[in-house]
Amino acid sequence: MNKMRLSGNKILITGGATGIGFAIARAFHSLGNDILICGRRKDRLDEATKFLPGTKSFRCDISSPEDRSRMYAFMADRFGEINILVNNAGIQRPADFLTGEDGMKYFHEEISTNLEAQLCMLAHFVPMLSKKSPAAVVNVSSGLGFVPLSRFPVYSATKAAIHSLTLSLRHQLKGTDIGVFELIPPTVYDTELKGKTLDKTDWMSSSSDVAAALVHGMETGESEIAVGAARRWNRASRDELDSIFDEINR
Ligand SMILES: NC(=O)c1ccc[n+]([C@@H]2O[C@H](COP(=O)([O-])OP(=O)(O)OC[C@H]3O[C@@H](n4cnc5c(N)ncnc54)[C@H](OP(=O)(O)O)[C@@H]3O)[C@@H](O)[C@H]2O)c1
Repeated sequence: MNKMRLSGNKILITGGATGIGFAIARAFHSLGNDILICGRRKDRLDEATKFLPGTKSFRCDISSPEDRSRMYAFMADRFGEINILVNNAGIQRPADFLTGEDGMKYFHEEISTNLEAQLCMLAHFVPMLSKKSPAAVVNVSSGLGFVPLSRFPVYSATKAAIHSLTLSLRHQLKGTDIGVFELIPPTVYDTELKGKTLDKTDWMSSSSDVAAALVHGMETGESEIAVGAARRWNRASRDELDSIFDEINR
């Protein structure tokens, strides 16, 4: 696996204004990298760039093909070509099969944000990255990609798909200088994913723990960077996965 140089890079971080994305932006900013963050809320992007001087932002709904095209044009004009893509933006919604279409109303949005947009970004950027050295893709999956939380079935399935996709991507790119990293966070208590910050428990990590693990993993060439409690889930046997499933879906 490729070890990465962690300064002097040009990095796009989707969803970089809050939570894990912002912690990653802050970590790379402190190491001396040029960063572009994107997200849908301008106030959050402005707040983040104020905190990280020199960082650029672009308001973009990554699930919209038109918005993605506008962002690519902005990058070509005002930011330049990247050598690291961090596919981080994501949403999590409950879904209940028993309540029919009403209980399942968010699934298109989850699939288009968490999966389809990541694929479109890869289709757009991998040819560009293949001309850079060093270069990297970071796909943010989740412990729930290994053991689903049944309240969030579609979210969990999109994260399992990101894991599978990352394995194939890494294999396809093995003859290139592109390092393909999967970041696998456990439950993180200080982000906006669940609409509010959570009360910290032993099995949760902070967004800065996750960013620090990513930096360390990229530096040492660890392809699957599982953090905190997700380390057990990532390496579990099928029997252990079944018992973790029972534990978290009581
Ligand atoms: N928190 C956890 O427990 C946890 C655990 C495992 C994995 N993860 C993963 O970590 C990643 C970051 O999540 P987080 O916990 O840091 O939550 P967060 O604070 O809500 O961050 C998600 C970011 O994505 C952006 N985003 C969402 N939809 C978008 C869209 N359509 N277009 C552009 N940007 C969009 C959001 O900004 P806007 O709303 O302004 O667009 C936000 O900045 C996600 O992929 C999540 O699945 C989180």
